[in-house]
Amino acid sequence: MPIKFPFTKNKKQPVPQTVGLDYNQLPEHVAIIMDGNGRWAKNRGMPRIAGHKEGMNVVKKIVSHASGIGVKVLTLYAFSTENWKRPKNEVEFLMKLPVDFLNTYLPELIEKNVQVRTIGDFDVLPPHTQKAVDEAIERTKHNDGLILNFALNYGSRFEMVNAVKQIAAKVEDGELSSCDITEDLFSSQLYTSDLIEPDLLIRTSGEQRLSNFLLWQLAYAEFWFTEVYWPDFDESHFEKALYDYQNRKRRYGGV
Ligand code: IPE
Ligand code: IPE
Ligand code: MG
Repeated sequence: MPIKFPFTKNKKQPVPQTVGLDYNQLPEHVAIIMDGNGRWAKNRGMPRIAGHKEGMNVVKKIVSHASGIGVKVLTLYAFSTENWKRPKNEVEFLMKLPVDFLNTYLPELIEKNVQVRTIGDFDVLPPHTQKAVDEAIERTKHNDGLILNFALNYGSRFEMVNAVKQIAAKVEDGELSSCDITEDLFSSQLYTSDLIEPDLLIRTSGEQRLSNFLLWQLAYAEFWFTEVYWPDFDESHFEKALYDYQNRKRRYGGV
């Protein structure tokens, strides 16, 4: 069952930027595949990690904007289960980024009433990453503004196989029978069990694929792609995506 959101206590009046964007009809859950950091850096003759650093500043900008205009859930793909294939120094840098992000930005997240969460296989992350993220989750757990959901070591296939294992174990124990297995039961075994499904998926950098992100949850999301690399993405691109979303017709198989 989707959770019900109380009206955000400290919701600020949005500063209208995009003509025609209706701030009362925003997608409730926006998911973003933040891609293109490496190419952005390479184009400037810089190491890939410089792109990740710049990308972190964009995360701050977009979180702040999404929170200000009243988006309810923002899920950001920060590290996939396949990203471990990257060079060791890059993986180390990416594991350090949440620590740096939260060291500098947690007070502002608290001030903005943002609730931090994660999806993904958390237990295998380095201890310093787990510690910083755990602290942010703990200190923001009572906030009822934007839910900021980081996909960290996230892979949709891993998530679904785990869900199947959990259901199979219940069937083996006699707690469930196979005819009790429904779409809702399956959803309830995913990391996203208490979140509404994404309405809008944004991917930057020109790639048009899911890269193992929320395969189940995006079944009826609207997709929005841009050539812009993540470090160049800003509030105006975000609002353009929201605007285009509002001009789509979601039919869910109906007419
Ligand atoms: C996205 O940018 C960030 C992560 C995957 C962590 P990339 O690092 O994939 O940048 P490109 O796609 O190589 O340009
Ligand atoms: C997806 O981007 C993962 C994140 C943005 C964290 P990738 O850059 O890893 O995806 P591929 O390899 O281009 O499919
Ligand atoms: Mg990439």
